Amino acid sequence: MNPLIQLKNITFKAQNKTILDIPEFQINAGEFLGIMGPNGAGKSTLLKVVSFLEQQTSGEILYLGQVIPIGNAPIELRRKFSIALQQSLLLDGTVFHNIAIGLTLRKISKAVINEKVEYWMELFGISHLAKKNALYLSGGEAQRVNLARAMIVEPEILFLDEPFSALDFPTKIKLMEDFKGIIETAQTTAVYVSHDLMEINYLTNRLAIIVNGEVKQSGPTPRVLEHPNSSTSSFLNEWKKFYPLAR
Ligand SMILES: Nc1ncnc2c1ncn2[C@@H]1O[C@H](COP(=O)(O)OP(=O)(O)O)[C@@H](O)[C@H]1O
Ligand SMILES: [Mg+2]
Repeated sequence: MNPLIQLKNITFKAQNKTILDIPEFQINAGEFLGIMGPNGAGKSTLLKVVSFLEQQTSGEILYLGQVIPIGNAPIELRRKFSIALQQSLLLDGTVFHNIAIGLTLRKISKAVINEKVEYWMELFGISHLAKKNALYLSGGEAQRVNLARAMIVEPEILFLDEPFSALDFPTKIKLMEDFKGIIETAQTTAVYVSHDLMEINYLTNRLAIIVNGEVKQSGPTPRVLEHPNSSTSSFLNEWKKFYPLAR
Protein backbone atom coordinates (compact mmCIF):
# COMPACT_ATOMS: atom_id res chain seq x y z
CA MET A 1 0.00 0.00 0.00
CA ASN A 2 1.17 3.44 -0.90
CA PRO A 3 -0.66 6.05 1.22
CA LEU A 4 -1.13 9.52 -0.23
CA ILE A 5 -3.12 10.69 2.78
CA GLN A 6 -3.13 9.29 6.30
CA LEU A 7 -5.43 10.22 9.16
CA LYS A 8 -4.32 9.68 12.74
CA ASN A 9 -6.69 10.04 15.70
CA ILE A 10 -8.96 12.42 13.85
CA THR A 11 -11.97 13.89 15.62
CA PHE A 12 -14.42 16.49 14.42
CA LYS A 13 -16.73 18.05 16.97
CA ALA A 14 -19.49 20.59 16.52
CA GLN A 15 -21.89 21.90 19.14
CA ASN A 16 -20.51 19.48 21.74
CA LYS A 17 -21.27 16.54 19.49
CA THR A 18 -18.60 14.21 18.15
CA ILE A 19 -19.30 13.89 14.46
CA LEU A 20 -16.14 12.01 13.51
CA ASP A 21 -13.88 9.77 15.55
CA ILE A 22 -11.34 8.02 13.33
CA PRO A 23 -8.18 6.58 14.91
CA GLU A 24 -6.68 5.48 11.57
CA PHE A 25 -7.57 5.87 7.94
CA GLN A 26 -5.76 6.25 4.65
CA ILE A 27 -6.17 7.01 0.98
CA ASN A 28 -3.86 5.00 -1.25
CA ALA A 29 -2.40 6.15 -4.56
CA GLY A 30 -4.40 4.90 -7.51
CA GLU A 31 -7.35 3.48 -5.64
CA PHE A 32 -11.03 4.16 -6.18
CA LEU A 33 -12.09 4.38 -2.56
CA GLY A 34 -15.74 4.32 -1.55
CA ILE A 35 -17.05 5.83 1.66
CA MET A 36 -20.51 4.50 2.35
CA GLY A 37 -22.88 4.83 5.26
CA PRO A 38 -26.35 5.93 6.35
CA ASN A 39 -27.56 9.53 6.21
CA GLY A 40 -25.94 11.61 8.92
CA ALA A 41 -23.11 9.09 9.46
CA GLY A 42 -20.41 11.71 8.85
CA LYS A 43 -19.46 10.91 5.24
CA SER A 44 -19.55 14.47 3.96
CA THR A 45 -17.73 15.72 7.03
CA LEU A 46 -14.98 13.14 6.51
CA LEU A 47 -14.64 14.15 2.86
CA LYS A 48 -14.36 17.82 3.83
CA VAL A 49 -11.77 17.09 6.50
CA VAL A 50 -9.52 14.95 4.27
CA SER A 51 -9.71 17.51 1.47
CA PHE A 52 -8.89 20.39 3.87
CA LEU A 53 -12.24 22.13 3.38
CA GLU A 54 -12.98 21.71 7.09
CA GLN A 55 -10.53 21.62 9.97
CA GLN A 56 -10.44 18.63 12.27
CA THR A 57 -10.88 19.30 15.98
CA SER A 58 -7.94 17.07 16.86
CA GLY A 59 -5.58 14.59 15.26
CA GLU A 60 -3.21 14.66 12.32
CA ILE A 61 -3.53 14.50 8.56
CA LEU A 62 -0.40 13.52 6.66
CA TYR A 63 0.28 13.96 2.96
CA LEU A 64 3.04 11.64 1.71
CA GLY A 65 4.15 11.16 5.30
CA GLN A 66 4.32 14.89 6.14
CA VAL A 67 2.02 16.32 8.80
CA ILE A 68 -0.12 19.13 7.37
CA PRO A 69 -0.71 21.85 9.98
CA ILE A 70 -4.39 22.20 10.96
CA GLY A 71 -6.05 24.97 8.97
CA ASN A 72 -2.90 25.62 7.01
CA ALA A 73 -2.76 23.29 4.03
CA PRO A 74 -0.52 24.94 1.43
CA ILE A 75 -2.15 26.13 -1.78
CA GLU A 76 0.11 23.83 -3.86
CA LEU A 77 -1.36 20.89 -1.97
CA ARG A 78 -4.97 22.08 -2.27
CA ARG A 79 -4.44 22.45 -5.99
CA LYS A 80 -3.69 18.74 -6.26
CA PHE A 81 -7.31 18.07 -5.28
CA SER A 82 -10.57 18.44 -7.16
CA ILE A 83 -14.00 18.16 -5.60
CA ALA A 84 -17.32 17.34 -7.23
CA LEU A 85 -20.56 17.55 -5.29
CA GLN A 86 -24.14 16.51 -5.88
CA GLN A 87 -25.06 20.06 -6.88
CA SER A 88 -22.87 20.90 -9.84
CA LEU A 89 -22.61 24.61 -8.88
CA LEU A 90 -21.94 25.80 -12.41
CA LEU A 91 -21.41 29.47 -13.18
CA ASP A 92 -23.50 31.68 -15.44
CA GLY A 93 -21.49 31.31 -18.67
CA THR A 94 -20.88 28.81 -21.41
CA VAL A 95 -20.08 25.17 -20.79
CA PHE A 96 -16.66 25.85 -22.32
CA HIS A 97 -16.00 28.67 -19.87
CA ASN A 98 -17.11 26.55 -16.90
CA ILE A 99 -14.80 23.67 -17.81
CA ALA A 100 -11.88 26.03 -18.49
CA ILE A 101 -12.11 27.85 -15.15
CA GLY A 102 -9.47 25.87 -13.22
CA LEU A 103 -6.94 26.40 -15.99
CA THR A 104 -7.85 30.08 -16.40
CA LEU A 105 -7.17 30.56 -12.67
CA ARG A 106 -3.81 28.85 -13.13
CA LYS A 107 -2.94 31.30 -15.95
CA ILE A 108 -2.49 28.59 -18.57
CA SER A 109 -2.13 29.76 -22.20
CA LYS A 110 -5.26 30.05 -24.33
CA ALA A 111 -4.07 27.49 -26.86
CA VAL A 112 -3.50 24.88 -24.17
CA ILE A 113 -6.84 25.69 -22.54
CA ASN A 114 -8.66 25.24 -25.85
CA GLU A 115 -6.98 21.93 -26.47
CA LYS A 116 -7.68 20.58 -22.99
CA VAL A 117 -11.29 21.74 -22.86
CA GLU A 118 -11.90 20.08 -26.24
CA TYR A 119 -10.31 16.89 -24.94
CA TRP A 120 -12.38 16.70 -21.74
CA MET A 121 -15.63 17.68 -23.46
CA GLU A 122 -15.02 14.87 -25.94
CA LEU A 123 -14.37 12.32 -23.18
CA PHE A 124 -17.52 13.28 -21.31
CA GLY A 125 -19.58 13.40 -24.52
CA ILE A 126 -20.52 17.08 -24.19
CA SER A 127 -18.65 18.72 -27.11
CA HIS A 128 -21.96 19.71 -28.67
CA LEU A 129 -22.83 21.74 -25.54
CA ALA A 130 -19.69 23.93 -25.62
CA LYS A 131 -21.50 27.17 -26.38
CA LYS A 132 -24.59 26.54 -24.26
CA ASN A 133 -25.18 28.43 -21.05
CA ALA A 134 -24.34 26.05 -18.22
CA LEU A 135 -27.33 27.16 -16.16
CA TYR A 136 -29.73 25.67 -18.71
CA LEU A 137 -28.49 22.09 -18.83
CA SER A 138 -30.27 18.91 -17.80
CA GLY A 139 -29.11 17.33 -14.53
CA GLY A 140 -27.02 14.71 -16.34
CA GLU A 141 -25.41 17.26 -18.67
CA ALA A 142 -24.63 19.57 -15.75
CA GLN A 143 -22.96 16.73 -13.84
CA ARG A 144 -20.85 15.87 -16.92
CA VAL A 145 -19.70 19.50 -17.07
CA ASN A 146 -19.00 19.42 -13.33
CA LEU A 147 -16.84 16.29 -13.67
CA ALA A 148 -15.00 17.61 -16.75
CA ARG A 149 -14.28 20.81 -14.81
CA ALA A 150 -12.90 18.76 -11.93
CA MET A 151 -10.77 16.50 -14.15
CA ILE A 152 -9.26 19.12 -16.48
CA VAL A 153 -6.77 20.24 -13.83
CA GLU A 154 -5.52 16.62 -13.68
CA PRO A 155 -5.99 16.30 -9.91
CA GLU A 156 -3.94 13.86 -7.92
CA ILE A 157 -7.11 13.05 -5.96
CA LEU A 158 -10.68 13.57 -7.09
CA PHE A 159 -13.14 13.79 -4.19
CA LEU A 160 -16.80 13.15 -4.97
CA ASP A 161 -19.79 13.57 -2.67
CA GLU A 162 -22.93 11.84 -3.98
CA PRO A 163 -22.37 13.28 -7.48
CA PHE A 164 -25.02 11.11 -9.11
CA SER A 165 -27.68 10.92 -6.43
CA ALA A 166 -29.98 13.52 -7.99
CA LEU A 167 -29.97 11.86 -11.43
CA ASP A 168 -32.68 9.61 -12.82
CA PHE A 169 -31.68 5.96 -13.16
CA PRO A 170 -30.94 5.70 -16.92
CA THR A 171 -28.96 8.97 -16.84
CA LYS A 172 -27.06 7.77 -13.79
CA ILE A 173 -26.01 4.39 -15.17
CA LYS A 174 -24.79 5.84 -18.48
CA LEU A 175 -22.76 8.52 -16.70
CA MET A 176 -21.34 6.04 -14.16
CA GLU A 177 -20.15 3.82 -16.98
CA ASP A 178 -18.45 6.70 -18.82
CA PHE A 179 -17.02 8.09 -15.62
CA LYS A 180 -15.52 4.77 -14.51
CA GLY A 181 -13.71 4.41 -17.84
CA ILE A 182 -12.41 7.98 -17.68
CA ILE A 183 -11.05 7.58 -14.13
CA GLU A 184 -9.39 4.27 -15.02
CA THR A 185 -7.75 5.74 -18.11
CA ALA A 186 -6.54 8.84 -16.27
CA GLN A 187 -5.43 6.67 -13.31
CA THR A 188 -6.74 9.30 -10.92
CA THR A 189 -7.06 8.44 -7.25
CA ALA A 190 -10.75 8.87 -6.43
CA VAL A 191 -12.65 9.07 -3.16
CA TYR A 192 -16.35 8.55 -3.63
CA VAL A 193 -18.93 9.21 -0.94
CA SER A 194 -22.35 7.65 -1.34
CA HIS A 195 -25.11 5.96 0.59
CA ASP A 196 -26.00 3.93 -2.53
CA LEU A 197 -24.85 0.32 -2.72
CA MET A 198 -25.28 0.07 -6.47
CA GLU A 199 -22.96 3.02 -7.15
CA ILE A 200 -20.38 1.85 -4.62
CA ASN A 201 -20.42 -1.71 -5.90
CA TYR A 202 -19.98 -0.67 -9.52
CA LEU A 203 -17.35 2.04 -9.08
CA THR A 204 -15.08 1.38 -6.13
CA ASN A 205 -12.20 -1.04 -5.40
CA ARG A 206 -11.91 -0.43 -1.69
CA LEU A 207 -14.68 0.47 0.69
CA ALA A 208 -14.97 2.04 4.11
CA ILE A 209 -18.30 1.86 5.92
CA ILE A 210 -18.93 4.71 8.29
CA VAL A 211 -21.66 4.65 10.92
CA ASN A 212 -22.08 7.25 13.70
CA GLY A 213 -18.83 8.98 12.76
CA GLU A 214 -16.71 5.83 13.01
CA VAL A 215 -15.21 3.63 10.31
CA LYS A 216 -16.80 0.31 11.22
CA GLN A 217 -15.38 -1.79 8.39
CA SER A 218 -13.00 -1.39 5.46
CA GLY A 219 -11.44 -3.60 2.83
CA PRO A 220 -11.80 -4.61 -0.81
CA THR A 221 -15.31 -3.58 -1.89
CA PRO A 222 -16.63 -7.04 -2.83
CA ARG A 223 -15.39 -8.52 0.43
CA VAL A 224 -17.00 -5.82 2.60
CA LEU A 225 -20.29 -6.03 0.71
CA GLU A 226 -20.40 -9.81 0.83
CA HIS A 227 -19.29 -10.11 4.45
CA PRO A 228 -20.65 -7.25 6.56
CA ASN A 229 -19.61 -7.36 10.19
CA SER A 230 -21.84 -6.95 13.22
CA SER A 231 -21.58 -3.14 13.05
CA THR A 232 -22.33 -2.79 9.34
CA SER A 233 -24.75 -5.60 8.61
CA SER A 234 -27.97 -3.82 9.54
CA PHE A 235 -27.17 -1.00 7.09
CA LEU A 236 -25.76 -3.19 4.29
CA ASN A 237 -28.36 -5.93 4.53
CA GLU A 238 -31.17 -3.42 3.97
CA TRP A 239 -29.54 -2.51 0.64
CA LYS A 240 -28.80 -6.08 -0.30
CA LYS A 241 -32.48 -6.94 -0.21
CA PHE A 242 -32.88 -4.71 -3.24
CA TYR A 243 -29.51 -5.02 -5.03
CA PRO A 244 -28.07 -8.43 -5.68
CA LEU A 245 -24.29 -8.14 -5.77
CA ALA A 246 -23.45 -8.67 -9.43
CA ARG A 247 -20.38 -6.82 -10.67
N1 LIG B 1 -20.81 22.15 11.31
C1 LIG B 1 -21.70 21.33 11.89
N2 LIG B 1 -22.36 21.69 13.01
C2 LIG B 1 -23.24 20.87 13.61
N3 LIG B 1 -23.54 19.65 13.16
C3 LIG B 1 -22.94 19.23 12.04
C4 LIG B 1 -21.99 20.04 11.35
N4 LIG B 1 -21.56 19.35 10.26
C5 LIG B 1 -22.21 18.18 10.30
N5 LIG B 1 -23.03 18.09 11.36
C6 LIG B 1 -23.85 16.92 11.76
O1 LIG B 1 -23.00 15.82 11.72
C7 LIG B 1 -23.66 14.66 11.24
C8 LIG B 1 -22.96 14.10 10.02
O2 LIG B 1 -23.18 14.97 8.92
P1 LIG B 1 -22.67 14.62 7.45
O3 LIG B 1 -21.20 14.47 7.47
O4 LIG B 1 -23.23 15.64 6.54
O5 LIG B 1 -23.37 13.19 7.21
P2 LIG B 1 -23.57 12.36 5.86
O6 LIG B 1 -22.84 13.04 4.75
O7 LIG B 1 -23.06 10.99 6.16
O8 LIG B 1 -25.06 12.31 5.62
C9 LIG B 1 -25.09 15.09 11.00
O9 LIG B 1 -25.84 14.78 12.14
C10 LIG B 1 -24.97 16.59 10.81
O10 LIG B 1 -26.16 17.23 11.16
MG1 LIG C 1 -23.52 13.87 2.99
